[in-house]
Amino acid sequence: MSLFTPYELGPLTLPNRLVMAPMTRNRAGADGVPGVSMATYYAQRATAGLIVAEATTPNAVGATYPHIPGIHDEAQVAGWRRVTGAVGHGRMFLQLQHGGRIGHPETSGLVPLAPSPVPLPVPLVTPGGEKPAVTPREMTAADIRSTVDDFATAARNAVAAGFAGVEVHAANGYLLHQFLAGNTNRRGDRYGGPAAHRIRAVVETVEAVAAAVGPERVGLRVSPGNTVNGIVEGDTDDIYAALVDALAGAGLAYLHVVFADPDQPTFQYLRKHWAGTLVANPALPWPGPLPADGGAAAGERLLAAGADLVALGRAFAANPDLVARLRTGAPLNPVRAEYLQYVRTDTGYTDYSSL
Ligand SMILES: Cc1cc2nc3c(=O)[nH]c(=O)nc-3n(C[C@H](O)[C@H](O)[C@H](O)COP(=O)(O)O)c2cc1C
Repeated sequence: MSLFTPYELGPLTLPNRLVMAPMTRNRAGADGVPGVSMATYYAQRATAGLIVAEATTPNAVGATYPHIPGIHDEAQVAGWRRVTGAVGHGRMFLQLQHGGRIGHPETSGLVPLAPSPVPLPVPLVTPGGEKPAVTPREMTAADIRSTVDDFATAARNAVAAGFAGVEVHAANGYLLHQFLAGNTNRRGDRYGGPAAHRIRAVVETVEAVAAAVGPERVGLRVSPGNTVNGIVEGDTDDIYAALVDALAGAGLAYLHVVFADPDQPTFQYLRKHWAGTLVANPALPWPGPLPADGGAAAGERLLAAGADLVALGRAFAANPDLVARLRTGAPLNPVRAEYLQYVRTDTGYTDYSSL
């Protein structure tokens, strides 16, 4: 088995095991509507076995950064339909991301909501440049319920827009990760306390989304131990053991592990206890530079350690024809990091060459 062996992901036949990882590129309109450039960008990368499209907000208050896409109004759904239509083959999931405390009134017009009123310890980009984070408002039980409903509605919208499914984003310090982690979840109710309670918001979200569109259309992304965006989980092993246990029988499309390392016990634990499809995004140098093969060898090691699919991010950003290049051993384009985010140009976005 290799990166180029086909894989049956539920009803989808993937021609290879390379997944384009979700990457926020800030190229949507100010209204969160995906435009023509986004359609071109994803269509250029259509040979990925599976594309997980960038973090997309399920409601207005969940918006993280300027010019990220949404999937909660008709214009956004129509914009995404243009993207899936341009890609054409339907092997595409949409990542649903609520930012929680990663959000700003100058971006969304709203005070961000989070499990507890613990602000992000670093500034974040707003339309007016970098600003200190504001203290989020603690979510009530009713806020949690309506957020879960918004995820479910967003998933229905994504399917209506032509996606094969959605990936619930519980990684990298955004809202659902804030529920999982001890330093951002200080709640005294049934959503806080021990790991078995801190997983509840994630489990309820995944279950609601699965009920809305079918579990075979739902993936879940996690980043065990990742401290990005000021996260200190505290009890990583307990969190992910409880989460995998709670969702083992849900029949989800996949579990997606960020910064996966085959030698790491957490990765080995997840592989052992998750019977379904496991997508692994290898731990590569961050912020860079990428290895010359874009992470392919690290991906092959993860396949050998039991992963089913390998997600790569930056290599796909810089190489529309990454699959062909890796298959033939052709050199990769370097990443032009200055164009990854917060610029709205087609430069560094749709102008990477194919062979
Ligand atoms: C520009 C950029 C934007 C990203 N946006 C997201 C995102 O929207 N959602 C997410 O889960 N991860 C996001 N990530 C993380 C990637 O999905 C991936 O985990 C990371 O880049 C490591 O993979 P790589 O080493 O192959 O690039 C982003 C990464 C980059 C470089």
